[in-house]
Amino acid sequence: MTFPFSRPRRLRQSDAMRRLVRETHTSVDHLISPIFVCDGSGVKREITSMPGVFQMSVDRAVEEAKLLRKLRVPATILFGVPDRSRKDACGSEAWAEEGIVQKALRAIRAEVPELMLIADNCFCEYTDHGHCGILNTKREVENDPTLDNLARAAVAQAGAGADIIAPSGMMDGMVRAIRSGLDAAGMTQTAIMAYSVKYASAFYGPFRDAADSAPAFGDRRQYQMDCNNKREGRREALLDVEEGADIVMVKPALAYLDVIADVRRHVDLPVCAYNVSGEYSMVKAAAERGWIDEKRTVLEIVAGIRRAGADMIITYWAKELAQWLSE
Ligand code: PBG
Repeated sequence: MTFPFSRPRRLRQSDAMRRLVRETHTSVDHLISPIFVCDGSGVKREITSMPGVFQMSVDRAVEEAKLLRKLRVPATILFGVPDRSRKDACGSEAWAEEGIVQKALRAIRAEVPELMLIADNCFCEYTDHGHCGILNTKREVENDPTLDNLARAAVAQAGAGADIIAPSGMMDGMVRAIRSGLDAAGMTQTAIMAYSVKYASAFYGPFRDAADSAPAFGDRRQYQMDCNNKREGRREALLDVEEGADIVMVKPALAYLDVIADVRRHVDLPVCAYNVSGEYSMVKAAAERGWIDEKRTVLEIVAGIRRAGADMIITYWAKELAQWLSE
């Protein structure tokens, strides 16, 4: 045997040794747990394609928020699932005083003041056509008129208690429009977490069931990104930084770990990764069949996302992870 002979296995000998040399750590501090809010009271309806995830009425959402506080999960992101009768061409429920998310924000803010409240800011859950903005006569989403509505919705969300506004519609200039709107309303402390690098993805399938937000015709490829592009993602992130974003996001996570790493390298703001619905459902389905060990798989997934460079992760496993990561 020649010298020196490298033996990386020396550092893998025991649990204590592996803990000592571990390069990446994940804790509950890095997790954001989504809540889908629907009408009614006492409602807690499981989403068929996302076992363990529920649509909840405001009262149940408050209970969920209390549970998150108990588990020390720092933040939740809220999505609205209004009754179809309240959807219209521009999605005015998104800024209505009595809009479903505004009601939930006020109720949770009052009862669980410690929890960070993030409001998803988009129109697909509120428009009758399911697209993320106003349509023109060619049935394409019009960018600039949609910006005014995004700002209006952001001010309503911040007024109802949101700490962070998270625009997810991939409109050009959305961060600037929302920042100006918030500042003009005196809401200078409200942060913006931009879905900066959001791909047109098949992995959103189960979410569209959950939020009843599938487009009635066509798809979102004119505004969400082409999955073949990476440089464009960096450009989107840098634009959002210039426009005043406080946190940038990459979404989905698992087929885009290279994009997370690239954005991490070029942006010095916190980076969030969204481990999306399809990524959740695939593991759940395999675990239900006994084909995969859910806990080990999920711990490996979050390690991968953190190793790629994400500071925080939006995940439907946040509650389970709060437990698993502290064992
Ligand atoms: C709304 C929005 C979507 C998701 C988050 N915000 C759906 C979409 O763009 O169609 C997807 C989240 C997930 O799949 O878990 N604009």
